[in-house]
Amino acid sequence: MTSHPTSPISADASAPSRRTVVKAAAVTAAVAPALLGAAAPALADAPAPAFLHGVASGDPLPDGVLLWTRVTPSAEAVPGSGLGADVAVGWEVAEDRGFGRVVASGTATARAASDHTVKADVRGLRPAATYFFRFTAGAAVSATGRTRTAPAADAAVDGVRFGVVSCANYEAGHFSAYRHLAARTDLDAVLHLGDYLYEYASGVYPEAKKTVRPHEPRHEIVTLADYRTRHGRYKTDPDLQALHAVHPVVAIWDDHEFANDAWSGGAENHTPGAEGDWAARVAAAKRAYFEWMPVRTSTEGTVFRRIRFGRLADLHLLDLRSFRSAPAKTGSGTVDDPERTITGRAQLDWLKAGLAGSDAAWQLVGTSVMISPVAFGALPAHLLEPLAELLGLPAEGIAVNVDQWDGFTDDRRELLGHLASRAVRNTVFLTGDIHMAWANDVPAKAATYPLSGSVATEFVVTSVTSDNLDDLLNVLPGTLSVVAAGAVKAANRHVKWVDMDHHGYGVLDVTAQRSQMDYYTVSDKRDPAATAAWARSYRTLNGTQRVERVYQPVI
Ligand SMILES: [Fe+2]
Repeated sequence: MTSHPTSPISADASAPSRRTVVKAAAVTAAVAPALLGAAAPALADAPAPAFLHGVASGDPLPDGVLLWTRVTPSAEAVPGSGLGADVAVGWEVAEDRGFGRVVASGTATARAASDHTVKADVRGLRPAATYFFRFTAGAAVSATGRTRTAPAADAAVDGVRFGVVSCANYEAGHFSAYRHLAARTDLDAVLHLGDYLYEYASGVYPEAKKTVRPHEPRHEIVTLADYRTRHGRYKTDPDLQALHAVHPVVAIWDDHEFANDAWSGGAENHTPGAEGDWAARVAAAKRAYFEWMPVRTSTEGTVFRRIRFGRLADLHLLDLRSFRSAPAKTGSGTVDDPERTITGRAQLDWLKAGLAGSDAAWQLVGTSVMISPVAFGALPAHLLEPLAELLGLPAEGIAVNVDQWDGFTDDRRELLGHLASRAVRNTVFLTGDIHMAWANDVPAKAATYPLSGSVATEFVVTSVTSDNLDDLLNVLPGTLSVVAAGAVKAANRHVKWVDMDHHGYGVLDVTAQRSQMDYYTVSDKRDPAATAAWARSYRTLNGTQRVERVYQPVI
């Protein structure tokens, strides 16, 4: 969608969809907290059935899109309760907000077995088109949603624009980033790179005195009912509802959709026995995720998939938790062990084949954790590497965080080597997880960068609310972080910029000439009316595999 009529920040007042959605959300919000509070009091305020969790769409295709909602059939049938009768639901898709030109419609059943969530995978639509949709159940009519289909697979597309977000901890603040993205009318979709929700008990992360608003349920989520209740709580947030009602969301999970630092056989925040069997917990979390998220359900229980935006961009979305090996110890040579993997063999082969076989101008890779090395003491290969191996030290220096690709250097070496050997150009990694904003060249070999060049670029977006450096250290933004950022950049010359303090979101604009990430920050995550401001922009020009600073946002 190349026409960009309005400036983002000022769209709040004008964007009609925003106002209607907010009105709908306000109504819902007025009811929801009362309804979905701890004890789920009676549905006094709204006739049953009701659409208390908003509407959403996702995974756009050239001829269709996935629609989502949840119906509350009766007062006691709150998320996770398993209560309530199955409900017949109708859905409509129209070319106009008034539903005068309905182009598709159908019915579905909101089943207690799926926590009364409903998905409609609508087809027969036109490519690169805006549509409006809604659901009905009895006399109840949901909020109206707006969505967009993807361009035709072989279309010459001038430009595509995405909102980019990650790491939204309900207790840590308000989702103002979502509100400001919902106010934009120029986005084709919003990419959610993971940590859509967090599993902790209330008052644990962040600690109680910093809790802005309480989770539901209050305890750590472990069972299917728990994960459903937590998803239900998130979907009552008015800013999150506004985002989902205005833009199709393309989401991947990271670890907190399960538990902290999850891998295929466990997690840092999982206690086998006391919290039951890991496989059972993951199965429950994935079931709730596919029920409550506008993501096409995968029979393999994974989210790795590909979405195409014409001949301009292929979006390769990764699942870096389901097939991952056990974590390595920081500072140990285990990070280089070729037996360990972050992707699993099948996914890495799928990704490599997709990247090498694509005829799109840009290869956008949604990776829930950072791929650029962030290490101290990377050793120039020819000097000390054999010594490092002898001493069992990591060849690429001491990684700061082995939960990201730094903990799986063999997979990274293989993937980046593939980009170099197959001359795959214009690969841009889009990343979340680390609660900081970064702009990086992705070096073939960090120790000899820039001589050895870079094979891709990486734009990392900060967290919507999850704590980062100033929050964790209780210091003012722009104090300690400046020192830390300086040290990181000094030891990792491929890192062009890092902001360790602010919360916000990104806007990625892709044209044939360049991909540009505009970084926005929100004024205060504790303030439900926080404003947003443009902070910085970086772009990578077609064919360069390097990032460079730009001194103004796309709009
Ligand atoms: Fe996170």
